Amino acid sequence: MFESVATAPPDSILGLTEAFLADPNPRKINLSVGVYKDEHGKTPVLATVKAAEQRLLATETSKNYVPIDGTPAYAAAVQELIFGPGHEAVATKRCVTAHTPGGTGALRVAADYVAKLHKLAVVWLPEPTWPNHRQVFEAAGIPVKTYPYFNPAANSLAFADLLAALGEVEEGDLVLLPGCCHNPTGIDPTAPQWQAIAELLAEKAALPLVDFAYQGLGDGLRQDAAWVQAMVQPGRELLIASSFSKNFGLYNERVGALTVVASGPEPAAAVLSQIKACIRVLYSNPPAHGGAIVTAILGDPVLRPQWEAEVAAMRTRIQDMRHLFVATLAAKGVKSDHSFIERQKGMFSFSGLTKEQVEQLRRDYALYIVGSGRINVAGMTRQNMDALCTAIAAVM
Ligand code: LMR
Repeated sequence: MFESVATAPPDSILGLTEAFLADPNPRKINLSVGVYKDEHGKTPVLATVKAAEQRLLATETSKNYVPIDGTPAYAAAVQELIFGPGHEAVATKRCVTAHTPGGTGALRVAADYVAKLHKLAVVWLPEPTWPNHRQVFEAAGIPVKTYPYFNPAANSLAFADLLAALGEVEEGDLVLLPGCCHNPTGIDPTAPQWQAIAELLAEKAALPLVDFAYQGLGDGLRQDAAWVQAMVQPGRELLIASSFSKNFGLYNERVGALTVVASGPEPAAAVLSQIKACIRVLYSNPPAHGGAIVTAILGDPVLRPQWEAEVAAMRTRIQDMRHLFVATLAAKGVKSDHSFIERQKGMFSFSGLTKEQVEQLRRDYALYIVGSGRINVAGMTRQNMDALCTAIAAVM
């Protein structure tokens, strides 16, 4: 059976890290996958994560299964992080959360739930978007449509085109909205633009699905969630896929959550029961460790502010690297204006480099970035900045 199997193409993001690891060039630089690096070029375990793990090691008494949807304490912690304390949707129990393996797990559970229960729905994705989005929804059998997001001429949100495209959304369609720090462009709508998008989707009776993978890396933990909170008007429904890979640095623990906001507590409970049925056939129940770390940190009066400071430090370092990147490119003689990179938020910058330039960077300079021209700014350091700007200036 296996002799006729063709080789699948490498993943457009994770496949690059495989190629990077195999590259013998000692000067290689990996700015492809969205992983945070500190000023020493290392992806650290956060101090608060280490402290929580030490506590868990000392207090854990069993490796028994966690519930299909995770623990109630984890669900409460996730909801508080998104909505803040005492939010109406939480207080009225019209909000439910399932613990999932990473943000990708949350998206796939959402996709399976929609494919099973809302058979006519199509999903609308921003163009461009994280390449795995399309694969996840197509794997679940949901037809994919796209809405324009990026205006390359102005390096800005294509807001008018975005609204016009979402005007075509049908009742019950799923519309994926990037929570903050849009992957790959780093461009987010303003608060009034989000409000206009939310109003339009409510009018269309579409189901927003917020992909919230970078909370805290844009303007701040609370600030990044403000538009999501504003969208949750009484009676309104939505889905939120959270990831704690980036803001807790828990990449390999695969920890995320799918939160459902329904119109009231009865439909919320019914949807959760269906989501649990989807999870049971996908992976049965979630891995415990990452969720236990997140729960311990968010609920602890000492660890919580320390973690918030660690997130702020990551955010600030990324912003510093944006400024240094733009200044170093200019110092290397690059004439075109790259100040837009300083206005973008989160880990990524859409550099405008062509596919050919990206290939040349990899071939001649062992500099790895994603084929779309997306650069992981969070992988830049004061040490690698000169080399990577020299390479980019040469191909430009
Ligand atoms: C990325 O876009 O690089 C990250 O979200 C990691 C991944 O899984 O692709």
